[in-house]
Amino acid sequence: MHTTGLTSPQGIWWKPAHKSEKVWFTISFVWCMILFAMMPLWHVVGGQNPSGIRAKVEPRDYIARVQQFVRDYGTGESESGIPVVAPPPGSDIYLLAAQFQWAPVLQLQEGVEYTLHLSSLDVNHGFNLYPFNVNFQVVPGYDYGLRVTPTEAGDYRIVCNEFCGLGHHLMVGKVLVLPAETTATGPGTEPQAPVRGDS
Ligand code: CUA
Repeated sequence: MHTTGLTSPQGIWWKPAHKSEKVWFTISFVWCMILFAMMPLWHVVGGQNPSGIRAKVEPRDYIARVQQFVRDYGTGESESGIPVVAPPPGSDIYLLAAQFQWAPVLQLQEGVEYTLHLSSLDVNHGFNLYPFNVNFQVVPGYDYGLRVTPTEAGDYRIVCNEFCGLGHHLMVGKVLVLPAETTATGPGTEPQAPVRGDS
């Protein structure tokens, strides 16, 4: 008789599972359950959860908050015309992502907590604070508030890591963190323009 893969094989072609097969199946099943339990567990006890608030906001309202923030604490402009803001310790600070720039330039103090608000004017962007492993979605219509404390003075870049259009690779912002003892934010400390990538 002609046989194909669709016809059943003759006789009993399977055998009872070997003991080692049962043992390995049990181990992998238990491990799956452990990993499954880790997901909700880590949500509660994991240290990687974002701090702060999430709220809806219309892009035009968010822009108004950013503009108010610049009026309140602005110290000048970077070379490429982006406002530089030196907010007081403990304040709410605002960052607006838009094709294809981050504004304003933030000038912060080491060891002080701020609430960093992130939102987008147009499409999804990615907040990535170089060179740290900090990574957040920046979404239009949502105000994402993160409690942050800069722990190291320095001159940092915000790299957009969500493809947002043809100028995505040019979307580089800037954060300056002044050492804890420095309080002066006069014209002498005005930072350079954000670095522009060209590749
Ligand atoms: Cu903004 Cu990529």
